[in-house]
Amino acid sequence: MTTTAQIGVTGLAVMGRNLARNFARNGYTVALHNRTAARTRELVDRFGDEGDFVPTETAKEFVAALERPRRLVVMVKAGDPTDAVIKEFAPLLEPGDMIIDGGNAHFADTRRREKQLREQGIHFVGAGISGGEEGALNGPSIMPGGSEESYASLGPMLARISAKAKDGAPCVTHIGPDGAGHFVKMTHNGIEYADMQLIGEAYQLLRDVAGYSAAQIADVFRTWNTGRLDSYLIEITADVLSHVDEATGKPFVDVVLDQAEQKGTGRWTVQIALDLGVPVSGIAEAVFARSVSTQGFHEMAAGSAEYDWHLDLGKVAAIWRGGCIIRAAFLDRITRAYEAQPQLPSLLADKTFAEEIAAAQDDWRDVIATAAKQGVPTPAFAATLAYYDSLRAERLPAALTQGQRDYFGAHAYRRTDRDGVFHTLWGGDKTEVDS
Ligand code: 6PG
Repeated sequence: MTTTAQIGVTGLAVMGRNLARNFARNGYTVALHNRTAARTRELVDRFGDEGDFVPTETAKEFVAALERPRRLVVMVKAGDPTDAVIKEFAPLLEPGDMIIDGGNAHFADTRRREKQLREQGIHFVGAGISGGEEGALNGPSIMPGGSEESYASLGPMLARISAKAKDGAPCVTHIGPDGAGHFVKMTHNGIEYADMQLIGEAYQLLRDVAGYSAAQIADVFRTWNTGRLDSYLIEITADVLSHVDEATGKPFVDVVLDQAEQKGTGRWTVQIALDLGVPVSGIAEAVFARSVSTQGFHEMAAGSAEYDWHLDLGKVAAIWRGGCIIRAAFLDRITRAYEAQPQLPSLLADKTFAEEIAAAQDDWRDVIATAAKQGVPTPAFAATLAYYDSLRAERLPAALTQGQRDYFGAHAYRRTDRDGVFHTLWGGDKTEVDS
């Protein structure tokens, strides 16, 4: 067993594997470890000739393969799996060693872990890593937090494997102590959500108002990508929109289930913004658009299901008719609506409410259009109209969001015409594989 690996990666799913290959391609000896050894062997079989790998099977072997102070990169699912890996490795480490968490951890977890490991003299580095699977392999943007001391040791290595900006500068810097790196990565993802939602809205306008086909909209995005909007997300949107589904001959975006998923970072950005008192309304709208499932009674219905509370929403409306600040005559009608249909998913699904709002909607649109033309901010009027229109729309741009997520992060999608979870090989011949 050699003890010469400058860095080790544990967790060899696509992000971990590509990051390990990136270190090796840049001349570092990389120790490899995975919960199931088959994955480690597969990496070495397929990519062993790209550089110097030290495959290991047990935690002890892995730690023994690393030069001191040890640099141990953890690339497992955020949350409990990260804690489990720390529990397994920390007792085998020595003061001065570094654990680098490259997942999308919540920064509060990173702060907790950093504090706990600091007591043992171990540096815990919460590092945001952005760029999806392609970035992990060819150069990601890296946002490490943690101590100055750990950055002095890790910085040059991270600079070597990171993306380089147009001026040649490496896309990595020491972000700050404890959870700062993951906080910045979380906010990056919040911005990513908002960008994707704005793109989705532009796509929907071009589709539903201008009547453009997916291929025509792809051309519009391609043109936009040559001008001021030049960016990765605009570029991949053109690719996703111009992709034709092999099985049906239809535009890919039309066969993807119109329901966008999320792993949590966008939602955390909004939750923390509420605590910090920062109005990130665009990001919040993007998060809501992925679930189209909030607003008052709708949120209580969701909360009731999540926590198994069996809330009687009709009774809630009834006790709000007097005394409370939002008391109003129409709460009587809300009570009646829930009495008639206790499982009503949203008040807009109630016939009387639906009819009444439908009758008022033209005026509502005029109010918002006038406000927009006059430069008067009406965020609540506008946001609630968007909510109403989202619930009424047959298809939203969520399918495009899923296509983008699959493109940059292999997050997979479901189809409208078949069961199962699928992934398109975007970087290759664009065939569809089971995920
Ligand atoms: C990145 C991405 C990456 C991941 C996100 C997507 O910067 O490379 O943001 O971290 O693809 O987790 O987030 P959702 O799964 O929540 O859409």
